[in-house]
Amino acid sequence: MSEKLKVILDCDVGHDDAIALMLGASHPKIDLLGITAVAGNQVLKKTLANTLHIVQHLDLNIPVYAGMDRPMVREQMVAGEIHGESGLDGPVFDPLTIKEESEHAVSYLIRTLMQSEEKITLVPVGPLTNIGMALRLAPEIIHKIDRIVLMGGSWGLGNYTAAAEFNILADPEAAHVVFTSGVPIVMMGLDLTHQALADMNVIERMEGIGNKAGKLFGDIMRFTFETQRMFGLEAGPVHDVTAMAYVIDESIFETKPAYVEICLDHGSCYGRTVCDFHGISGKEPNALVGTSLDLKRFWDLVETALHDLN
Ligand code: BDR
Ligand code: CA
Repeated sequence: MSEKLKVILDCDVGHDDAIALMLGASHPKIDLLGITAVAGNQVLKKTLANTLHIVQHLDLNIPVYAGMDRPMVREQMVAGEIHGESGLDGPVFDPLTIKEESEHAVSYLIRTLMQSEEKITLVPVGPLTNIGMALRLAPEIIHKIDRIVLMGGSWGLGNYTAAAEFNILADPEAAHVVFTSGVPIVMMGLDLTHQALADMNVIERMEGIGNKAGKLFGDIMRFTFETQRMFGLEAGPVHDVTAMAYVIDESIFETKPAYVEICLDHGSCYGRTVCDFHGISGKEPNALVGTSLDLKRFWDLVETALHDLN
């Protein structure tokens, strides 16, 4: 048995996704087997290209797979006002010379899980379409998933509607499949991720590392710094990074068990994660929901991870 945790990152790169990728790629505790791209912050063609750009820019040796280009049921939505036209506006990259693998991300997920002797941790930080599709196509994979540590939802306010957070709202039916799968889930929602703001002190600290990864962090978060003001935040949250950081060192976080139900009614609460912390529904908890984090240890972890990259 390898000492490292086997992890697959499922993402819609995306500013904060890119930093989660950097963390997963560099931390010695993580064996990042592959990265699966999904439509979300932008259309699949763009989120895939953004993923490949990060991998190429930092000279990472991790295979990338293209996944679902639209949600299971609902019409597609993207987050251009937050992540820009490219989905990763801000940093400038050389033209791509690497390509994605030929296998579809959903087949890759199923094949890799079924062939693995050890259980694998899934870290989805975009809409849950790839994971939901894999669970529907091959339900037997639930026995091979250690747990799903995801960024999405909130027990309080949403960020795309008053009630719903983007990743869940972008594919609520897939989120329903995931939350009813029986696989242990850790949910990093907005209530937690809005505590992890990359203010100018953090940005300058990471840039000060003096390598490509530190500069990339700065280019990414300087862009996000501006677009997040619409939520009344003082700086950009690194939402997706919290999920990868939890996998690396869960002692940094406080969580509470809850029964989380995805609202599928097509009204104003569509895509809401209804979090029952007090057993009011009579249902057993299906998730650990992130409530707070030790910011000092969190940023120390991010700095060490970036330091170990190019
Ligand atoms: C989530 O939506 C995306 O815009 C971010 O990458 C993050 O995964 C936050 O709501
Ligand atoms: Ca994301």
